[in-house]
Amino acid sequence: MAGQPVIRPAAQSDIPRMAQLAGELVRLHHAADPSRFMLVDRVEEGYGWWFRRELARGGTVLLVACEADRVVGYVYGTLEERDWNLLLDAHGAVHDIFVDGVSRSAGIGGKLLDAILSELERLGAPRIVLSTMVGNHAAQRLFARHGFRPTMLEMTRSGSAGP
Ligand SMILES: CC(C)(COP(=O)(O)OP(=O)(O)OC[C@H]1O[C@@H](n2cnc3c(N)ncnc32)[C@H](O)[C@@H]1OP(=O)(O)O)[C@@H](O)C(=O)NCCC(=O)NCCS
Repeated sequence: MAGQPVIRPAAQSDIPRMAQLAGELVRLHHAADPSRFMLVDRVEEGYGWWFRRELARGGTVLLVACEADRVVGYVYGTLEERDWNLLLDAHGAVHDIFVDGVSRSAGIGGKLLDAILSELERLGAPRIVLSTMVGNHAAQRLFARHGFRPTMLEMTRSGSAGP
């Protein structure tokens, strides 16, 4: 049986593994609705570039969950300023949360979420917002358990010329 996962800030050396998990997150969304969720070529490479950039700037929270020194999950969020388009004042945003398939349903997602919510609040986020794909009930149950309520519904119309 695996021991308790360790949740810690991501390091540069974690980026390849995080990018691999992020690639799975992208593919999961793309498979569910390819006309809404993009899948670009070399998506892991792209995510690696993005995470390196994000780690280097302030206002970003990137945490990993490790079991026996292996990264089995990550969570990524940012502090955001007032957004007039979203009618949303200063806030924290949780962008990604992912736990490796074999490590799920053992509390790791909950621990990652607890940790990022605490960190975003410590950094001053007066509210925290996230988006979750329609039909992703496992994620929605996790978020509801952590105090999130549905507040906005995105709608997509696929163009006739689009894929
Ligand atoms: C959503 C996700 C992050 C949850 O991660 P997780 O590690 O499985 O989360 P938890 O273990 O904390 O909770 C999952 C379930 O396990 C249960 N659980 C937690 N610890 C447990 C334990 N020790 N024994 C048995 N069950 C347990 C929880 O109660 C929960 O049950 P529920 O699904 O019936 O509500 C994970 O499913 C995932 O990575 N999914 C794919 C990516 C994704 O959808 N990300 C969200 C995009 S918005």
